[in-house]
Order: sequence, then C-alpha cells, then structure tokens
Amino acid sequence: QQFFFQQNEFSGKTVLITAGPTYEAIDPVRFIGNNSSGKMGVALAEELAKRGARVELVLGPSSQIVKSSGINVTKVTSAEEMFNACASLFPSCQIAIMSAAVADYTPVTIEKEKIKKSDTDLQVELKRTKDILAYLGSIKNKEQLLVGFALETQNEKEYALNKLESKNADMIVLNSLNDQGAGFGKDTNKITIFDKNKQEYAFSVKSKTEVAKDIVDTIKQFIHV
Ligand code: CTP
Ligand code: CA
Repeated sequence: QQFFFQQNEFSGKTVLITAGPTYEAIDPVRFIGNNSSGKMGVALAEELAKRGARVELVLGPSSQIVKSSGINVTKVTSAEEMFNACASLFPSCQIAIMSAAVADYTPVTIEKEKIKKSDTDLQVELKRTKDILAYLGSIKNKEQLLVGFALETQNEKEYALNKLESKNADMIVLNSLNDQGAGFGKDTNKITIFDKNKQEYAFSVKSKTEVAKDIVDTIKQFIHV
C-alpha cells in the first residue's frame, strides 16, 4: 500500500524539464556547444515519471536514451528553440526544472556557406541568448514551482543565491564542479540546494540517479501532493 502511494506522489502534476547542451550554429557545419551530457536532466525526468508525474522533457543535443513512457520528449538544438518550446509548454506545467546548460551567446549571423579559412584570424560576433529560467520566473503564477541550476567555479553560494533571486526561482541546485567526481559528463554529482527562504540543503557526492531522488524529495516539500 505504502509502495503504491509512493509511486504516485506526483500524479496529476506535469513537470517541465530542460536538459543537455544547446548548439549555436556558426555555419552549416560548425557550432558553439558545451560539455553538458544531459544525464542529470534525464535522471530527473525518469525519477519524476517513476513517481507519477507527467514529464515534458525539452532536450538539447544529447545521446541520452529516455526510457519511461511517462516522458514526452521535445528535441531542440539551439537556445532559441529551447526557449520557444519552454514558453509554450510552461503554462500547462505545475513544476519546471531548468537543468539544461543553455548557451549564453549565439552568433549574430549564421553563414549560409561553410566558412573557408584564410590567412587572417577569424572573429565571430556573438549576441546574448534569452534566459529561459528568468523568463519563466517573470511569468510564473503562485501555484507554479520553478527550479534552476547554477554552475559556478568561484563564490559558489553567493552566485547561486544571486541567481535564485534575480531569476525569481523557488529553488536553486548548485552543482559543485570543483569537487572530485562531480560534474559534466560524469555519472556523479555533488549538489547543494538553496530555497527562497534561504534554507540550505547539502548533499554528498552521489550518482546522478541518487542526486535526482534528493532533488525530487526536496521539491516534494514545496508542493501540495
Ligand atoms: N538558463 C536558462 N537560459 C539561459 C541561460 C541559463 O534557462 N539562456 C538557466 C540554466 O538552465 C540554469 C540557470 O539558468 O538553470 C543558471 O545557469 P548558469 O549558466 O549557471 O547561469 P547564468 O545565469 O547563465 O550565468 P553565468 O553563466 O554567467 O554564470
Ligand atoms: Ca550560463
């Protein structure tokens, strides 16, 4: 009986999750990307689906395989595509978790033909992308819970708390890249969660599957299930 209850903690909830990197095209064969594997976001999607949620996963270029049938995957490439997918899905979601490593800059123009090398150096002009988490924070209603991630290499807590506040998130998951066995491409992570009441939850180095459970358990305290 207890088992049945636990499996359905999130039934009736729809959760938006972003995961993976984004690729920003320079020309038809080149892009600016990053090292995000998408593992953390996919682990979160699987954990929430297992616990009864309907999951809308907006996934950047990633080799991760999504197993659960409770997860609806929208594949995107660029930050702009990810923004558009999230903007249209968010109004029907009660929870949103932004775990993607979204590009902060994108080329001003995408060359139509492959750029040929020349004897001079190449300059690619970049412009800012839209911040998806900040946008969702600006339109969310009182019933929606918004969770962001922060990746820092210095002043971790201060920067994470700044992001929590400036983006109007309810929770920020700080990823410690400095710790051994944690971070991009790895199977493990070390996180600290900060909520908007300045509560701090510290966790040890764990597999991303275990980290997903910790995040979902923390989210659960904030929603009426
Ligand atoms: N994020 C987003 N859209 C962007 C950039 C970031 O939704 N265009 C989200 C990330 O998914 C993450 C949070 O914002 O949940 C923080 O991302 P991070 O890269 O750590 O912070 P930035 O605000 O982009 O600042 P910086 O990279 O300069 O530290
Ligand atoms: Ca960033």
